Amino acid sequence: MENFRINTIEEYNQAYKKSVEQPEAFWGDIAENFLWYKKWDKVVDWSFKDYNVKWFDGASLNITENCIDRHLASKAKDIAFIWESNFEDKPNRVITYQQLHNEVCKTANALKYLGVKKGDRVCIYLPMIPEAVYSMLACARIGAIHSIVFAGFSATSLSDRIQDSDCKIVITSDGSYRGDKSINLKNVVDEALETCASVQHVLVYEHTKIKINFNNDKDIWWHELVPLQEAICEPEKMKSEDVLFILYTSGSTGKPKGVVHACGGYMVYTAYTFTNVFQYNEGDIYWCTADVGWVTGHSYITYGPLLCGATSVIFEGVPTYPDAGRFWKIIDKHKVTHFYTAPTAIRALEALGLDFVSPYKLNSLKVLGSVGEPINEEAWHWYNKNIGKEKCPIVDTWWQTETGGILISPLAGITKLKPSYATLPLPGIQPILVDDKGNEIKGNHVEGNLCIKYPWPSIIRTTYGDHERCKQTYFSTYHNLYFTGDGCKRDQNGYYRITGRVDDVMNISGHRIGTAEVESAINMHVDVVESAVVGYPHDIKGQGIYAYVIAPSTTKDHAILIKEIIAEVNKIIGPIAKPDKIQIVSGLPKTRSGKIMRRILRKVAEGDVNNLGDISTLLDPNVVEEIKNGRVK
Ligand code: PRX
Repeated sequence: MENFRINTIEEYNQAYKKSVEQPEAFWGDIAENFLWYKKWDKVVDWSFKDYNVKWFDGASLNITENCIDRHLASKAKDIAFIWESNFEDKPNRVITYQQLHNEVCKTANALKYLGVKKGDRVCIYLPMIPEAVYSMLACARIGAIHSIVFAGFSATSLSDRIQDSDCKIVITSDGSYRGDKSINLKNVVDEALETCASVQHVLVYEHTKIKINFNNDKDIWWHELVPLQEAICEPEKMKSEDVLFILYTSGSTGKPKGVVHACGGYMVYTAYTFTNVFQYNEGDIYWCTADVGWVTGHSYITYGPLLCGATSVIFEGVPTYPDAGRFWKIIDKHKVTHFYTAPTAIRALEALGLDFVSPYKLNSLKVLGSVGEPINEEAWHWYNKNIGKEKCPIVDTWWQTETGGILISPLAGITKLKPSYATLPLPGIQPILVDDKGNEIKGNHVEGNLCIKYPWPSIIRTTYGDHERCKQTYFSTYHNLYFTGDGCKRDQNGYYRITGRVDDVMNISGHRIGTAEVESAINMHVDVVESAVVGYPHDIKGQGIYAYVIAPSTTKDHAILIKEIIAEVNKIIGPIAKPDKIQIVSGLPKTRSGKIMRRILRKVAEGDVNNLGDISTLLDPNVVEEIKNGRVK
């Protein structure tokens, strides 16, 4: 990967210039660094108008051959992953590139045995164990499409996702651990499958040895199938534009949509960005704390690092178990050089005090990363001072499930940093700020809606089964532009600072959740007639969830009703979407045409009650007084 490594800011400037002036030559040169069975006929073919994009069309490849096989000649004994259990006294599992190869091939052969063919969808619902990575790579090996569902989602959410993409197989485990909690994952899968006719088999990894229901017709133990398979599996020849995976994410309307990524472009872009953003070197130990259920886990735990032959830590547990020093202890234990986490974790650990940090040296660290939400200046400085000891660059990486890889970020040690700024676009990325009418906001020291005007190799291809939805969501708001949904500032030096979502999507502890999704879960409660959900600033989570709920006929005590509503949201979405504050109200501020004025609800939730702006268009202004007076603090 050294052929496309940027080493200085001058090289960055040159690469950026070339990527804009000659994008095809630029990306074509980078793509030459991978193994292809056949090279492309054309580097890129695209239209944002009637959205259609193809990268490296005509080429064929297998991403797992690039992630694993091609490293074997020189790196068979090098470590690909060090797995750290939830329990600190449990031994690590160390997986070399050769072992990874063997495990992935065996898992791939097991999937074939179960009837999985190229193009079939496989749902993965697993905790953070190496088998999660084996499973995703096994799918990619045989051309099956993986759809990973974060193992904190409820049975209803899992079922919705399985149904949407007609998955044939589910891979899960008996249970999972999160700190001192043990969760029966298989029960969740069983419940989800009551409404999923497409699933033929469930492959179950025995992890926690919790008692589960075993359905002999459908369920197969991993240990009774996978270890018996051959450790060789010829990689399937995939077209560059064949689907690699589907990953569901929330939007401002409706149910989560399946973001589709394609093999060739995703491979090129995740490797390019991993190398350049993190400046990973041979011998370094990289650790990304995300879960493989999110896009960060796909691109920067599995694919990006493996494509570059890196050694990574995978951690099963949570930052606060057995105590709030766990992250720092793991860094010292494995001599981690690159540490990539989310601002919400930094803020939570900051709040628990330096006593948990001071026992650790942290002197192996070279680069720190941040992802998932804006990092506030205070958290940035705490991270820089107490973890990086003011000698590690912080790469604040801005990107999205739809972008597949990092789009705006410093290059570690190369780009001059500015706290809470994602700084500059990576080569190949052409950001543009527009006003609400879509006019370009030129110049510096400005603010607007962030769009991108030229495709990059790992851009979303479609939303699974509904291309129209993809076009509508990302390419119809502004003419000929990809709209990110984020607001953004550009400072006097052209540095970008993401200010947060400008649509009805919340960012709760780095997790993306649509207000509409939470509302429809709340509305499932029998006593609820209507609800409105907004995000509000939260010290640790970045944003918290504030729900206004109308339940006119209930005689229940409000405290009981609120508990029941929270349980309902847990059941339908999962604990990550549970409202922090619920206010029972008799009405919502609506315009005469029946539209909820969310602006007012946001202001009240933020506590800015004396600054509600014009409320003269409201159908019933009295509602505002009631809402203000009953605000949950
Ligand atoms: O609002 C932005 C925020 O997270 C959103 C994307 O969420 P998701 O698709 O779940 O992917 C998260 C991991 C890439 C964006 O629209 N976001 C992500 N990274 C940053 C960020 N906001 C500010 N700064 C970041 N570094």
